[in-house]
Amino acid sequence: MRLFPRTLAAMVALCAACLSHAQGSAPIKVGLMLPYTGTYASLGNMIENGFKLYVQEQGGKLGGREIQYFKVDDESEPSKATDNVNKLIKRDQVDVIVGTVHSGVAMAMARVAKESKTLLIVPNAGAGAITGPACAPNIFRTSFTNWQPGYATGVIAGQKGYKRAMTITWNYAAGSEMVKGFTEAFEKSGGKVLKDLTVPFPNVEFQALLTEIAAQKPDVVFAFFAGGGAVKFVKDYAAAGLNKTIPLVGTGFLTDGTLEAQGATAQGLITSLHYADNLETPRNNAFRKNFALAYKTNADVYAVQGYDTAQLLAVGLNAVKGDLSKRDELVAAMRKATIDSPRGKFTMSASHNPVQDFYTREVKGNNNEARGIAVKALADPGAGCRM
Ligand code: BEZ
Repeated sequence: MRLFPRTLAAMVALCAACLSHAQGSAPIKVGLMLPYTGTYASLGNMIENGFKLYVQEQGGKLGGREIQYFKVDDESEPSKATDNVNKLIKRDQVDVIVGTVHSGVAMAMARVAKESKTLLIVPNAGAGAITGPACAPNIFRTSFTNWQPGYATGVIAGQKGYKRAMTITWNYAAGSEMVKGFTEAFEKSGGKVLKDLTVPFPNVEFQALLTEIAAQKPDVVFAFFAGGGAVKFVKDYAAAGLNKTIPLVGTGFLTDGTLEAQGATAQGLITSLHYADNLETPRNNAFRKNFALAYKTNADVYAVQGYDTAQLLAVGLNAVKGDLSKRDELVAAMRKATIDSPRGKFTMSASHNPVQDFYTREVKGNNNEARGIAVKALADPGAGCRM
């Protein structure tokens, strides 16, 4: 057979590509499944930006390999989650999935990841089951379980001496699990929750429920909302005059990434979260500076979680020098990682969820400022996890 020079050159190029792929120097495919539209859109964008910032700081490579991104907008829509995650797994054939924000969507992703054994790192969604009964060796989380910040906020409300609380959230796993955590800690301190109020996600019609709160006059209101919904809720609470009469506390999502839009209505609000803007550590200062330079906006907790997701992946990939076929070694390194996060150092629990400090925070200007640690090294028990 006679080969023309052009055909020969093409074959040589193709073979070189095959070889480099076989040697593991092809890019690692990272699938970002996040909300890019809807009430959680800003959260998704901040997670992506945080992830990419860490990768850029490593020269664009993790474990010696370039990173290639594939994106799907999950719209915070659980009914589309299985199809969406399969676009990344089957169509794009990604090596690892990063996602997502909404607990209901993340639950569907975790089911598919467990079945297909695709490596999944959850950069926000706090559904307890993901690192509980649905846990798996290939599933990690770099954020929190919903119970954790709820519990820490309940500790703060108890310390402040409040006795009668009402709660208000969206009616889905994130809301109900945060309320559960809040109630557990609040009742331990002798408090009582009078009533749990909910609206369907992502509804922001709060008026009727605010009227009910005004009528009941509890000592304190606990709330979970995030993104666009948190902006609307905090503004409506103030517009109803309740900020003058009934203290509002919440998990830190109520005031994170939202302060410019909430303006005066958020000033002085007390929340709890695993991050605060003004942590005076070299790690946090450098992170905030680099993030602001790269994206012309201030970092928030979601950016931190994205950044730490890339850090955790880097620990695994560095341990195997980018060789994804060494899955057991990669997972073992991630399990015993200590992540040097802008939030402070954290480790992984046996069920792959962060063990971390929860800060008491107060809104001042456009910052959530730390006012001490509400609960130190808080671990979710990960009940029901069998790996
Ligand atoms: C969740 O759905 O788990 C969630 C969404 C936004 C902020 C925090 C938790």
